[in-house]
Amino acid sequence: MGNRSMWQKIGLTARRGPRKGDAEGGATQATSAPALSRLEKMVVAAAAVALAAWACSGTPPDERADPATATIRLPEPRVRGEMSLEQCLRARRSFREFRDGALTLEQAGQLLWAAQGITDWRGFRTAPSAGALFPLEAYLVAGRVESVAPGVYKYSPKRHELRLVASGDKRMQLAAAAAAQDWIGNSSAVVVLSAVRERTTRKYRERGIRYIYIESGHAAQNLCLQAVALGLGAATVGAFDDAAVKRLLSLPEEEEPVYIVPVGRK
Ligand SMILES: Cc1cc2nc3c(=O)[nH]c(=O)nc-3n(C[C@H](O)[C@H](O)[C@H](O)COP(=O)(O)O)c2cc1C
Repeated sequence: MGNRSMWQKIGLTARRGPRKGDAEGGATQATSAPALSRLEKMVVAAAAVALAAWACSGTPPDERADPATATIRLPEPRVRGEMSLEQCLRARRSFREFRDGALTLEQAGQLLWAAQGITDWRGFRTAPSAGALFPLEAYLVAGRVESVAPGVYKYSPKRHELRLVASGDKRMQLAAAAAAQDWIGNSSAVVVLSAVRERTTRKYRERGIRYIYIESGHAAQNLCLQAVALGLGAATVGAFDDAAVKRLLSLPEEEEPVYIVPVGRK
């Protein structure tokens, strides 16, 4: 929305600028007009520079990372694969017998992008969202991911990067919090989807809760199909202790864990 208004402002400014020949001092031009024109040009130029910087980085200017925060930039997501959507649908099965081995950083990034990646200049994502209110957040509980120290990382869809939330391998504790489903601890990494209910219930009230669960299903299915396309195994998990998972991931007060998707090698 902010981007659109920026575009609108630029369009408005450009339309209000002097027409060709006006700057040479049309008889009716006010004396302050040239100064105003320069100001407008500066505004347009500044906006253009900001937009160009954003286009290059894929990030709105006001979303610049705090350099003090540990972040990992993820490789650019791929939009071509070796399997058709139909083949992925056909092959998807819950998989729990993970082999040893790490995910590559590219695979981890691709899975997160499939779940919640931004695919549109308005910030719209791979999964639909009621009212485009985007209540979901995605976390990577990394155990064995190349170039990633074990820990809990929050995925930033806008920047396509990971931000460290808590250090240390949390997979076994996560398995314990998920009704002692030990197989979760053998995954390479676990994606946890959480939700800020208020983002959706503010508009849709009680029905917003339903929308949030529906949305987490969309995101998780995207992730599962992406795992198939990458030759990885994944399964979805709904049986877990909300408070324990929330604590383990250091989720903010307003965020609730909704769905867990362990991923690993087949
Ligand atoms: C909402 C939901 C919650 C689930 N929770 C668990 C779970 O806690 N543990 C588990 O092993 N599988 C869980 N599953 C996976 C189902 O057991 C699995 O989808 C089902 O057996 C069908 O197999 P398929 O996924 O291979 O088609 C869950 C699936 C859904 C949709």
